[in-house]
Amino acid sequence: MSDSNEHELLIKTPKQLIIAIVASFVIPIFIIILLANYVSSSEKPAAGSDAFSKEAIAERLAPVGTIDFVDANAPKVLKTGEQVYAAACAACHTTGAAGAPKFGDKGQWGDRLGKGFDTLWKNAVNGIGAMPAKGGNADLDDIEVARAVAYMGKEAGADFKAPEPTAPADAPAAEQPAAETAK
Ligand code: HEC
Repeated sequence: MSDSNEHELLIKTPKQLIIAIVASFVIPIFIIILLANYVSSSEKPAAGSDAFSKEAIAERLAPVGTIDFVDANAPKVLKTGEQVYAAACAACHTTGAAGAPKFGDKGQWGDRLGKGFDTLWKNAVNGIGAMPAKGGNADLDDIEVARAVAYMGKEAGADFKAPEPTAPADAPAAEQPAAETAK
């Protein structure tokens, strides 16, 4: 029997048979578990992508609108003259639109500065000619307008100083200066 080896089976003993049967169950189950794990694992970002970073996910899940709660009783923080100018006055006064005296143009401001700070302030608050009251920003505090007028005036060569805001009338007594309460 020269070819007896060719027909030799891999499984020769009952022990080998048992191992083969067990393996034929266990190996596919193992592969299935691995595949299931792969398919159901939630985070599989592409290389170099931050689409699944915590921040990116939070951003996608964020509600469309957000609300900023502003305490209406909180003291208003007044802007500086430069900030007010940039936000509310520059649109006209930088270009000289509608005949507005140009920012920093001493020739155009000369006569107006002669009216004095208080008149200019009053006119800026109430509006004058083509200029709407407070430049169209009713939200501005009078003091903020004053600061913007002082800022513009200084740039045109005037020595303006905006008045300091007065303490709100209903401020708690404890916050009043000692001299005030002693009166
Ligand atoms: C919509 C355009 C416009 C905006 C915005 C605007 N102004 Fe004017 N402003 C004018 C015009 C036009 C004049 C000239 C009015 C005139 O004399 O007839 C003027 C004049 C003034 C004068 C001179 C007033 C006077 O008595 O001669 C001051 C001061 C002034 N503006 C301050 C401001 C300040 C401060 C702001 C921002 C809070 C501002 N303006 C925003 C158009 C504007």
